[in-house]
Amino acid sequence: MTTPLLFTPLSLRGLTLRNRIVVAPMHQYSAVRGFPTDWHLMNAGRYAAGGVGLVMMESTKVERRGCGTVGDLGLWDDAFIEPLRRIVDFVHECGTAVGIQLGHSGRKARAGRPWEGGRPLGPECGVTDWDDWELVAPSAIAADDKSPVPRALSTAEVGEVVQAFGRAAARACKAGFDTVEIHGAHGFLVHEFLSPQANQRTDQYGGSDANRRRFAIEVAQCVRAN
Ligand SMILES: Cc1cc2nc3c(=O)[nH]c(=O)nc-3n(C[C@H](O)[C@H](O)[C@H](O)COP(=O)(O)O)c2cc1C
Repeated sequence: MTTPLLFTPLSLRGLTLRNRIVVAPMHQYSAVRGFPTDWHLMNAGRYAAGGVGLVMMESTKVERRGCGTVGDLGLWDDAFIEPLRRIVDFVHECGTAVGIQLGHSGRKARAGRPWEGGRPLGPECGVTDWDDWELVAPSAIAADDKSPVPRALSTAEVGEVVQAFGRAAARACKAGFDTVEIHGAHGFLVHEFLSPQANQRTDQYGGSDANRRRFAIEVAQCVRAN
């Protein structure tokens, strides 16, 4: 019997997967101050032990203020590299490749976890670094009528966020990840720049289709350069 295509190797640039089963990134809401826990080792590890070709770890935030919830994984500091490497090493021992998704929640940051209702949080939520958890977006337009109005990033700050994606990619590389994915969907920061509703900027990052795509393209270029 011939081997079904699903179970044959797949090469993408320099990466060869042992089969074509890829686990989509799935947020676990279980990090502690951005750090992975044994839950993440178990979750990525069980798919790897099951024999998939690639496990993509969840949307991991490139800036503290980009965290959607208190349980988001982080890559905004070198301190995250070693704990992530532990997971990478385990997945590799199983013969599986592992990637990580890079993200920023933009105006959808600072919310409760799904099982806590997912609503916007206030300072009474008790996080010790509330002031660092600022809502930023392309424009000062709330995600909906129940959400707070974010602060519009200045043009210079947009460039700094692009660099944060690049630095996070470099850290992912140091942790041993085989690939990274950029989260450009679901109404989060990259998607907010693409949207003519969320993005009403008048600089080079807003207005025309080409201008609204500029942030996503610069992020992709900076991630690849790193
Ligand atoms: C619990 C859960 C967490 C998710 N977290 C992410 C995420 O971090 N990043 C992302 O891009 N998609 C996330 N998704 C979406 C999935 O990756 C996937 O795109 C979605 O489940 C649709 O896949 P399907 O068409 O194969 O069913 C999540 C989905 C679930 C169920």
